[in-house]
Amino acid sequence: MSKNYYITTPIYYPSAKPHMGHAYSSIVADFFARFKKIDGFNVYFLTGTDEHGLKIQRSAEKLNKDPKSFCDEISNIFEGLTKTLNLSNTDFIRTTEDRHKLSVQNLWNILEKNKQIYLSKYSGWYSVSDEAFYNEDEVIDKDNFKVSKTSGSAVEWVEEESYFFKLSEWEKPLLEFYEKNKDFILPESRKNEVISFVKNGLKDLSVSRKTFSWGIKVPQDENHVVYVWLDALTNYLSSLNYPDQNNELYKKFWPADLHIIGKDILRFHAIYWPAFLLAANLKPPKRVYGHGWILSGDQKMSKSKGNILDPLEIINVYGLDPLRYYLLKEVSFGNDGNISEEKLESCINSDLANNFGNLCQRVLSFAEKNCSSIVPESDFNDEDLFIMNSMTDIDKIRTIIDNQDINQYMNFIVDRLFASNKYFNDQEPWKKKDNKLRLNTIVYTSLELIRKITILLYPVIPQTSAKVLRIFDIDEDSINFSTLDNNNILRKGLKLNKLNILFKKIDK
Ligand code: ME8
Ligand code: MG
Repeated sequence: MSKNYYITTPIYYPSAKPHMGHAYSSIVADFFARFKKIDGFNVYFLTGTDEHGLKIQRSAEKLNKDPKSFCDEISNIFEGLTKTLNLSNTDFIRTTEDRHKLSVQNLWNILEKNKQIYLSKYSGWYSVSDEAFYNEDEVIDKDNFKVSKTSGSAVEWVEEESYFFKLSEWEKPLLEFYEKNKDFILPESRKNEVISFVKNGLKDLSVSRKTFSWGIKVPQDENHVVYVWLDALTNYLSSLNYPDQNNELYKKFWPADLHIIGKDILRFHAIYWPAFLLAANLKPPKRVYGHGWILSGDQKMSKSKGNILDPLEIINVYGLDPLRYYLLKEVSFGNDGNISEEKLESCINSDLANNFGNLCQRVLSFAEKNCSSIVPESDFNDEDLFIMNSMTDIDKIRTIIDNQDINQYMNFIVDRLFASNKYFNDQEPWKKKDNKLRLNTIVYTSLELIRKITILLYPVIPQTSAKVLRIFDIDEDSINFSTLDNNNILRKGLKLNKLNILFKKIDK
């Protein structure tokens, strides 16, 4: 049976260049994509840019550019970042592409056919920064301005003719859906927020705008453009060639397994998105994970606040893999987190250079001197088996991943790194020169430990891990997670390839 896995990042607004918050979501999604890939899944991993709406139109106007060429420029930078972050994405979608327009207009037509859309008039608050409509009770006064209670962004009063989606009809079905699919929204705390919002009652949702033109036209009414969130969310289908539901991509990958998003856009993904899909007789995604924010001081890092950190600055100084490692290990997944250079440096020094780098260097240089860099014979005792078997419970690790428990995964790796270094120390192979079989077995066991830990590290620090696995002639494309439960993968007589220093320690 072939196993398929569809994972997405949000599609980002190309209203300004990317910052660390965007890099964070993308790296997290790449982590899961790579894990699933080495666990034998066909992985479809989508990211891209969300290019319509008033926010983009105004950003372009400010610079006297037409919106399309404005988007071209910045979308390019986002696409460039996928390379810089070494993302394994399958596709990069832009909502200004024809394939996406086709998909959105089709979804609209089906919603209309299903009597889910009607024409009326919207009057209420709108935040251009969030591209969101807010109820009266979600808006507060701040320094003589009206702002959204949750995001803090300015709102403006809107009164115009608008098409509405009958969201109110979906209140009950949504609550039933959450009840049946207990893990649809994670983490748990955010799920409760969503459910109580729905329980408070859903109003019909305005899904078109008439006072500006930068968007996808409503099929039967040229004067309206589709509300940017109905447009944007549909990207997850467009990439799979929706509306053609008989093509291979759609058949294999819809419904999506996991939408990785920030908590700022949970309402759109956990309420509107499944409602649109159910209303169009399509399956909702299996899970939406709303992670926390990367902060700058104690505030959300965001372009509108102007407090951004460019991921390139960090990568140029420290390298990509250390940044990936830091974000996955030091940010408690689901909660807000900070970028601290001090903590990043200590990740590099203690975890990557000392713990991982040293283990590799020590074992390999010992094997070079004592085994001519050739995988030796082995005759395991209980201690050897005990430590190797501490990494054979692959179903448990899979469960950790399927619960999106990144921190438990990282802690497991760090713990096994310590244990492996300790094993090598305690076994004192340098004192076993008169018992060649024992010496060889310790080397063999240590090499197996390196192999296993490096496979676990692959989704976290892919470039470095691929380098390490080359010692054993394991190519990146053939990395296989399920070989973790085997303690005898390394073939006796295999010549070990050389390994250069992995991480330079940072002088403090
Ligand atoms: O909302 N910390 O785009 P956007 C962590 N186009 N993650 C952050 C972050 C931070 N400080 N800042 C941004 C949009 N993000 C829509 C999405 S999806 C169909 C449409 C990440 O450019 C996080 O994933 O404002 C957040 O949800 C997303 O970027 C918002 O990016
Ligand atoms: Mg935003």
